[in-house]
Amino acid sequence: MAEAKHNSILFFFFSFIVVIPVLHANIGEFDAYWQQKAKEAEKTAFKTYSPHPEKITNSLNKQVDATLMGTNATRRNLKKYNGPCLATNPIDRCWRCRPDWMDNRKRLADCVQGFGRNAIGGKEGRFYIVTDSSDDDMVNPKPGTLRHAVIQEEPLWIIFGKSMSIRLNQELMMTSNKTIDARGKNVHIAYGAGITIQFVQNIIIHGLHIHDIVPGSGGMIRDSVNHVGFRTRSDGDGISLFGAANVWIDHVSMSNCSDGIIDAIMGSTGITISNGHFTNHNEVMLFGANEAHVIDKIMQITVAFNHFGQGLIQRMPRCRYGFVHVLNNDYTHWLMYAIGGSSQPTIISQGNRFIAPPNPDAKLITHRDYAAEEEWSKWQWRSEGDVMMNGAFFVESGEPLKGNPFSRLEMIKAKPGSYVTRLTRFSGSLDCKPNQPC
Ligand SMILES: *[C@@H]1O[C@H](CO)[C@@H](O)[C@H](O)[C@H]1NC(C)=O
Ligand SMILES: *[C@@H]1O[C@H](CO)[C@@H](O)[C@H](O)[C@H]1NC(C)=O
Ligand SMILES: *[C@@H]1O[C@H](CO)[C@@H](O)[C@H](O)[C@H]1NC(C)=O
Repeated sequence: MAEAKHNSILFFFFSFIVVIPVLHANIGEFDAYWQQKAKEAEKTAFKTYSPHPEKITNSLNKQVDATLMGTNATRRNLKKYNGPCLATNPIDRCWRCRPDWMDNRKRLADCVQGFGRNAIGGKEGRFYIVTDSSDDDMVNPKPGTLRHAVIQEEPLWIIFGKSMSIRLNQELMMTSNKTIDARGKNVHIAYGAGITIQFVQNIIIHGLHIHDIVPGSGGMIRDSVNHVGFRTRSDGDGISLFGAANVWIDHVSMSNCSDGIIDAIMGSTGITISNGHFTNHNEVMLFGANEAHVIDKIMQITVAFNHFGQGLIQRMPRCRYGFVHVLNNDYTHWLMYAIGGSSQPTIISQGNRFIAPPNPDAKLITHRDYAAEEEWSKWQWRSEGDVMMNGAFFVESGEPLKGNPFSRLEMIKAKPGSYVTRLTRFSGSLDCKPNQPC
C-alpha cells in the first residue's frame, strides 16, 4: 500500500458523510454499496478490538511455552526435513500432524491464535473447488475461477482441484467469510495483481505462494455477485488489508511484490500473520499508512512464527498507532532495519531471533521516524526474551509491559528466542499429501 494516499476516507469512518469525492481506497465511485460496506466494516472493527490486548498475547505465550523444549541452535537447518511430523508451534500443533487433514480441512479454522483468533473464514459454508487458473473477465468471472469463488455472498471454503499459477489481471476483491486453502496443491498467485481485503471480515488465507506482484491498471471489477465498481490502479501489494477485521494469513510464501508484501491500513484489526516465509522484498509489512489515519489506533496485529529471510530490506513490520505483537519470528536477513514505526505505535517484541547483517550501520533492529527522542521515548516498544546475534540491538522505549492478569516475568520466560529456529522451521507454504501429516 502506498503511503499517504487514503486521507479522506477517514471522514467516512467517523461521520458517514455521504458525498465523497472519488479516488478513495482505489474505489472509483464510493457508491451506496461501498458506503454500506464501510459502515459495516467499521462496526466489526470496533467489536473486534480488544481493550486489553495483553491478555491475548499472554495466552499465546503460555501455549508456546507449553509446546516446546528449548535448544540453543543458532543456525537454520537448510536440509529438507524427512523425519516424523513435528508441529513445532502451538498453531501448527492444532492440525499439522494429523494425516486426516484433507478430510477435515475446516479444522484449520479452530487453530488460529493471537489477534486474528476470531477468523473462521468459510468454515460455515460449503467447499468451492477452483479448477480454472484463468482470470480473463473482471465483470463476469467464469465459474471455476478463483475470482468467481471470492465474490460469492455465502461463506465458502475455497480449495484447488489441481496445482496452478494464477496471473490476476486486476486485484482480487474478496468478500467476507472466505477461506482460501491451497493445501495439497501447489498454487501460485504471480506475475499479476494481488489480493485485496477491503471492508470485509473473516478471512483465512493459507498455503499460497504469492510473488512477482505488479499493480493492476484498474477498471470495472466485480467485487461481489451483486456489485461491480470502478477501481483505480492498485498499488501492487501482495495482500492488502483495508478496513478489514478478523483475518488470518498462515503458511504463505511471499516474495517480490512491487509495493508491500502484506499491508494493513485504515482501521484493519484482529489480524494474525503466522508461519509465513518472506524473501526478496523491500518494504515488507506496513501497518498504518498515514499519521492522519487515527482509526489505526484500533489496529491489533500478531506477527508470529514467521521467517523473515533472504533479500529483505526493511519494515518487518513498520507500524503507525495500534498494538503489534511480534512473537517468535526468525529474522535472518535485513539490509536497513527490522522493525520500525511512527505515530506512537505499541510494539511488543518477544522471543524473536534477530541476526544483524554484516553492515556495521544496519545493526539496529528498530527504526523510528518523524519524532524527536523526547517524543518517541514515550512509545512503548519493548523487547523481551529476544535473541540478538551478529551485533543486532533493539532500542527500547516507553513503559515495560505490565502483563494482566499474568506477570511480566512469566511472559518473558515463556518463549526464549533460542527456540525460534524450531518454531519457524516449517514456515511458508507446506507440501501436503493426502493421508499423510503435512
Ligand atoms: C542454552 O544456553 C543457556 C545459557 O548458556 C543454558 O543455560 C541452557 O541450559 C542451554 N539450553 C540447552 C537446551 O542447551
Ligand atoms: C459472515 O458470517 C457471519 C456469521 O455467519 C454473518 O453474521 C455475516 O453476516 C456474514 N457476513 C457477510 C458479509 O455475509
Ligand atoms: C520481481 O517481479 C517483477 C514483476 O514480475 C519482475 O519484473 C522482476 O524481475 C522480479 N524481480 C526479481 C528479483 O525476481
